[in-house]
Amino acid sequence: MRISFTLNGEPQNRQVNPFDKATSILAEQCGQESVKTSCAIGRCGACTILVDGKSANACLLIAAKMDGTDVVTAEGLGARADAIIDRLRQNGAIQCGYCAPGLLISLVALLERAPDGDKLERQELETVLAGNLCRCSGYTALRKAILALSS
Ligand code: FES
Ligand code: FES
Repeated sequence: MRISFTLNGEPQNRQVNPFDKATSILAEQCGQESVKTSCAIGRCGACTILVDGKSANACLLIAAKMDGTDVVTAEGLGARADAIIDRLRQNGAIQCGYCAPGLLISLVALLERAPDGDKLERQELETVLAGNLCRCSGYTALRKAILALSS
């Protein structure tokens, strides 16, 4: 089947198998290096993308469901991620290329969902850590950086 969708603001038209995963379409056909496959079962967050403004696990999204959607990957976040990257840097939260893109996407989705001027509660911010796992560096600096987004 052919599907059409928008990727980081650019129209796409791709020939796919309806059950292809969005991870392989985005990474292999569309060159989005930020979209990683790790667990492939929706647990780790390494493949997180925005679909119609909401965060989604690309490893659970099939091609047939991508048709007509607006997809944003970490490559397309631009200035939307600036404040988050600043907090990560200021708090020494050095994340790798495997977890960082999904983490940025999840935080952008969460922060942009908050009504204008409202600050998120600690608990809400920490939900991101449940869906975006880090296997190597620990969570102390990361938690500090994320909580700094509420102030
Ligand atoms: S690869 Fe998709 S959630 Fe882990
Ligand atoms: S820093 Fe990326 S998985 Fe730990």
